[in-house]
Amino acid sequence: MKRVSLTQYLVEEQRQHQSINAELRLLIEVVARACKRISYSVSKGALGEVLGSADTENIQGEVQKKLDVISNEILLEANEWGGHLAAMASEEMETIRQIPSRYPKGEFLLLFDPLDGSSNIDVNVSIGTIFSVLKAPEGMQDPTEQDFLQAGSTQVAAGYAVYGPQTMLVLTTGNGVHCFTLDREQGSWVLTQSDMQIPAATKEFAINMSNQRHWHPPVQRYVDELLAGSTGPRGKDFNMRWVASMVADVHRILTRGGVFMYPADLRDTSMPGKLRLMYEANPMAMIVEQAGGAATDGQGRILDIQPTKLHQRVPVFLGSKEEVDVVTGYHAG
Ligand code: AHG
Ligand code: MN
Ligand code: MN
Ligand code: MN
Repeated sequence: MKRVSLTQYLVEEQRQHQSINAELRLLIEVVARACKRISYSVSKGALGEVLGSADTENIQGEVQKKLDVISNEILLEANEWGGHLAAMASEEMETIRQIPSRYPKGEFLLLFDPLDGSSNIDVNVSIGTIFSVLKAPEGMQDPTEQDFLQAGSTQVAAGYAVYGPQTMLVLTTGNGVHCFTLDREQGSWVLTQSDMQIPAATKEFAINMSNQRHWHPPVQRYVDELLAGSTGPRGKDFNMRWVASMVADVHRILTRGGVFMYPADLRDTSMPGKLRLMYEANPMAMIVEQAGGAATDGQGRILDIQPTKLHQRVPVFLGSKEEVDVVTGYHAG
C-alpha cells in the first residue's frame, strides 16, 4: 500500500484544488500535531497522572477534568507562535485568546472543543478533540468576540481527532472528508480513507434516552416511531447506540450511517440543547454535509445559524439524510 501522509495530502490539496493556502496548511498541521500530543497524554492514563477532576469549573458550568485543562493548554501553546492565527476560542475559556504580541498574526480564527466526551475519560472509552477554522475579517488587528460570530457556512476547515482503539483525524477543507490514522511508531498521520460518505438511509439512531420525558413533541413522535419497529409507521427495526462522546458517535455515523440527536428539552428554555454551536455543532455539521449527510437544529440547517454568543448552545440532529429530513419535517409540521 502506498502511504500518503497528512503533509503530502495537504501539499497536493493546495496544488490541485487550491482549497487551502500555505497558512491554512500550516494551521492544520499544527492542530494535528497538538492532537498527537493529546493522544499520547490520553493513552498514558493513570501512568501519566492525567485522570480525574481538576476541581475547577469552566464557563459552561461544568467541573473540568484534568484532561480538559491539559488538552486546552496543548492546543493554545501549539498554535500561538506559528503566525497562522489571529486569535483562538475554546469551550474551556470564558472569552477569546489573543496571540501574544511577540508573535506575528495570521488570517485565521481557530475554535476548539479540546476534549470532547469528558465523562468517558476515567472509564477508558473513546474521547476526542473537535476544531473549526474561520477567516478573520480583513485587516483585523486584535479580533473581538464579535469577529468569531460567523455562520458555520463560512468555515474554511473543520475536523476532529478521535482517541479510541486507534487515534484518527477526520478532516474537511470543503473538498470532501478524509480520514487519517495515527501511526504511533512513525509518529505520523497516514491517509486511510478518502471521501467518506454517510449512507442516506439507516437503521441506527443515537440519543440519550434518559431525557425522553423532557423532549418536545416532534422528537417524542420521531423516536416513538423508531422504537415501534417493523410493525410501526417506519416499517423497519432500528438499533440504538449512545457513546456519550459526540466525536465517537459522529465517527460511527460517518463510517456506517445513523442519526445523532441532542435535542433541546422542556426543562430549561434558556438553554436550547446541550451542545455548543461554535465548538461542536458547526464543525460536525460541516463534516457531515461534506460527507453527503445533513445537520439541522430541527428548524433549519445548522450551518446557516447566525451566532449571537460564543458559547451558544443548539439542538442538534445530524447524520443520514433521510432520517434528518424526517425529524426536521416533524418540527415543521
Ligand atoms: P464535552 O465533554 O466536550 O463537554 O461534551 C460532552 C457532550 C458530547 O460529547 C456528548 O454527545 C454529550 O455531551 C453527552 O451528554 P450526556 O452525558 O447528556 O449523554
Ligand atoms: Mn465540557
Ligand atoms: Mn464536547
Ligand atoms: Mn469538551
